[in-house]
Amino acid sequence: MTVPVLPTARLGTDGPFVGVQGLGCMGMSDFYGPTDRPEALATLDAALEAGVTLFDTADAYGFGRNEELIGPFVRANRDRVVLATKFAVERKEDDPSHRGIRNDPAYIRAAVDASLRRLGVDEIDLYYMHRRDPAVPLADSVGTMAELVRAGKVRQLGLSEVTGAELREAYAIHPIAALQSEWSVFARDVERTAVPAAAELGVAFVPYSPLGRGFLTGVFQAAEQLAADDVRRTQPRFTGANAAANAELLAPLREIATARGVTLAQVALAWVHQRAEVHGLTVVPIPGTRKRSRLAENTAAATLRLTAEELARLEPVAGEVAGDRYPDMRFTQVGRE
Ligand SMILES: NC(=O)c1ccc[n+]([C@@H]2O[C@H](COP(=O)([O-])OP(=O)(O)OC[C@H]3O[C@@H](n4cnc5c(N)ncnc54)[C@H](OP(=O)(O)O)[C@@H]3O)[C@@H](O)[C@H]2O)c1
Repeated sequence: MTVPVLPTARLGTDGPFVGVQGLGCMGMSDFYGPTDRPEALATLDAALEAGVTLFDTADAYGFGRNEELIGPFVRANRDRVVLATKFAVERKEDDPSHRGIRNDPAYIRAAVDASLRRLGVDEIDLYYMHRRDPAVPLADSVGTMAELVRAGKVRQLGLSEVTGAELREAYAIHPIAALQSEWSVFARDVERTAVPAAAELGVAFVPYSPLGRGFLTGVFQAAEQLAADDVRRTQPRFTGANAAANAELLAPLREIATARGVTLAQVALAWVHQRAEVHGLTVVPIPGTRKRSRLAENTAAATLRLTAEELARLEPVAGEVAGDRYPDMRFTQVGRE
């Protein structure tokens, strides 16, 4: 099968051009059940061949192992890969459910050096603050991130799960190239303040979990279908009566997919691209996969066009979703809006 090469888009006003769809690497080391290292590495290479250039990791994924996994691939393709990683989520290997949020300058300075060491590179192309700790002023956290740019450790700055007001405040301290937050047919709370602020400032939006963590593809419909240690078993949307009710909401996606001869995943990804057009902002979704077999399908979705009638049928879906995105919504931008 010939894989169409992706069009490109720019991250921020002076950031790099990237394929309009990136690759989320998280599941290759953590959270979504068993992983297959050779297949994951082959997926990285195949993604690059398909025109994907933005590769997304974080220091928290697999307790640093995700950065170690992709490091050799990044180094072997340093002139083509745009490497994004993140700091702020502190985890404990002996207590996997623990999540601490750290935004203090000393933590950030140590975190970037640890990421550079694990990745084996001199510079990170896009460095995100993964979560905001509102107790730490943005002048301190983003101010410290700006120091990393001046020190040549980081090229561009990004934020994740911040409100529109926080994005504006951060941007006044240092230009922000990308905002990465959850955005999908099932998760649209970002459209209230974060998306309009990003559009106004010229910040690229990088939707994470654009496939609703896989639920929008129809591959699982209940938490019980997932591995015992899969983190989605703890997420309110995928458990009990919520999962059953949410599975019903896939009906319009399934009808559109069948009528168009495409997959549910493709409908979900095309929706994100076209929704961003409505808001007038650059969008680079980062669907996550551990498998080469998904790549042609997912990249083809970037150029699939849904009709106005199809978009209208998907419009009410998010408003009907049962259950929050996370067990504790204080870790998201909605908790501070
Ligand atoms: N900033 C943040 O707080 C944050 C939070 C979550 C995620 N992220 C980033 O965003 C990336 C993407 O999000 P995500 O992985 O949570 O969710 P996602 O992209 O919505 O969905 C990933 C799931 O969908 C499956 N999948 C992918 N393509 C498919 C297809 N064509 N058909 C059927 N299933 C398919 C994957 O399984 P297979 O692996 O089996 O294909 C995986 O289980 C992550 O990898 C990570 O880099 C960031």
